[in-house]
Amino acid sequence: MDTRGTLGFSATQRWLHWIVAMLVLILLPIGFWMVDRAEANIWDGLTGTLYASHKTFGFIVLWLVIWRLILRATNTAPDYPDSVSVPVRKLAKTTQWLLYSLLVAIALLGWAGVTAFGALNILFGINLPAMPGIPADKEFAKEIFAIHGWLAVALCVLLFLHVAGALKHRLVDHDGVFNHMSLTARDK
Ligand code: HEM
Repeated sequence: MDTRGTLGFSATQRWLHWIVAMLVLILLPIGFWMVDRAEANIWDGLTGTLYASHKTFGFIVLWLVIWRLILRATNTAPDYPDSVSVPVRKLAKTTQWLLYSLLVAIALLGWAGVTAFGALNILFGINLPAMPGIPADKEFAKEIFAIHGWLAVALCVLLFLHVAGALKHRLVDHDGVFNHMSLTARDK
């Protein structure tokens, strides 16, 4: 079934966008919260569940984003209306590609970190596969997690920009750009 509007994102792409967005909005606070508890040396059931949930959702996000990138590369994307200036288009596109890159990089670093640390346990008693080529080395794991954390902060900044831009299209410009990702409205 072709569920696309004229040259728009497919229904699968739109659903993936919102599922990934929801998972990332859960992952970020859980990540900061669990690290706070770890730094305060609170190692109870809650901390364990937060870590296991974070690793589970993070690993799912990795594969969902890879799926999104494949769909993005093999499908057409909707264009902006003429009212959107060239610099704004460039800013929006750059932000979007940086978001894709950061999501993949952060998730890969998380997986590499838990492989190096030897903490592959996730929810439901499942173990993640070890990332190929990563040695067991806790000091290396700590360095990987430091970069993971800094990139997550950069992700927060870009998400703010991305959401602010989307809301401006929806609430101020009323130019149909927000509907490119809507699950209900069709493209203008
Ligand atoms: C795009 C997906 C992900 C996002 C947005 C994300 C975000 C975060 C954030 C915000 C923190 C807290 C950083 C800090 O305060 O220093 C964190 C820590 C952590 N993340 Fe992720 N993460 C993602 C994917 C993953 C994956 C796939 C894994 C492993 C399978 C993972 C494992 C961890 C671990 C173990 C920590 C704690 C590191 C430590 O204790 O120093 N993350 N993450």
